[in-house]
Amino acid sequence: MPSSTLSLIPTLLLLISTTTTTTATTSYSFKEAPKFYNSPTCPPVTTICSGNAVHVAMTLDAAYLRGSMAAILSVLQHSSCPENIRFHFVASSSAHTNNIHVIISTSFPYLNFNVYTFDDSAVLGLISTSIRSALDCPLNYARNYLADLLPTCVKKVVYLDSDLVLVDDIAKLAATPFGETDNNDIVLAAPEYCNANFTSYFTPTFWSNPSLSITFSDRKACYFNTGVMVIDLEKWREGDYTTKIVEWMELQKRMRIYELGSLPPFLLVFAGKIAPVDHRWNQHGLGGDNFEGLCRDLHPGPVSLLHWSGKGKPWVRLDENRACPLDALWAPYDLLQTSNDVLDS
Ligand SMILES: *[C@@H]1O[C@H](CO)[C@@H](O)[C@H](O)[C@H]1NC(C)=O
Repeated sequence: MPSSTLSLIPTLLLLISTTTTTTATTSYSFKEAPKFYNSPTCPPVTTICSGNAVHVAMTLDAAYLRGSMAAILSVLQHSSCPENIRFHFVASSSAHTNNIHVIISTSFPYLNFNVYTFDDSAVLGLISTSIRSALDCPLNYARNYLADLLPTCVKKVVYLDSDLVLVDDIAKLAATPFGETDNNDIVLAAPEYCNANFTSYFTPTFWSNPSLSITFSDRKACYFNTGVMVIDLEKWREGDYTTKIVEWMELQKRMRIYELGSLPPFLLVFAGKIAPVDHRWNQHGLGGDNFEGLCRDLHPGPVSLLHWSGKGKPWVRLDENRACPLDALWAPYDLLQTSNDVLDS
């Protein structure tokens, strides 16, 4: 792993408008990350369409930018072939895409990335209010449109939420086998949680309607978290899974079949039909529950990815001096420029 100290850049004032209705101006200033180099055995990657590239998709918005920067740094730092990673950032159409370019390339001057604009209006009419308002943000639904947004030569992508850090090589996650022999096409890979109470993700209205609940009758459906997914974009495009998910969202507008934002439509389409991924790749729930944000512990077993899903975010708790013990594992990836850094330089 290449090591060098973080160099400091002059303070930049960067503005991102957060929603179409209110323009919140936030000043951000991030440190420059070191350059990360491929190890000698890495296969060559020359273009974005190269078969050896590892593709990573994330959304970028003002509220989670600090988390996204930490996630990017963690991916690079634990990769044996960091120069082979191609990042695909999806930003809301109400954000200033130019500023996003500046923010990313200021902290990661050597990063290979594209920024895509996600048209909020595509989903605004489809979003039904959920139990936590942060889940209702249009960009939260962008993961459903990756197959359309990314170039068609990108055949597989690892989607990552912004409230996580990796502590292992993302190439291992990207190489998850999707199963060669089966004729039922597997489109998505993610860790499954078969002990979670699957019933609770849908309303009694859903379960009491046989024409709806039959959806799960022919499969062993288990909960999975949509914050970490490996997606076969080729099969996704072939099967037009974007439309399949949108159809469930349209039904949700007419009758309430679930309570949680963007996750349940994914469960409706994919639960019980995904390729399994070891639980080490999504140690989720570290943000606590959706109501109180209590501290959570790790699940038993090894850890390759720490995910602060839930209400509490480590950067907020650290700033407010009420950090949970595991938030200390996020802190080393924080690129936020503090006044102490400026004084030190
Ligand atoms: C699962 O959740 C449903 C609905 O929330 C509840 O009625 C049921 O008792 C739960 N089952 C278990 C085993 O906890």
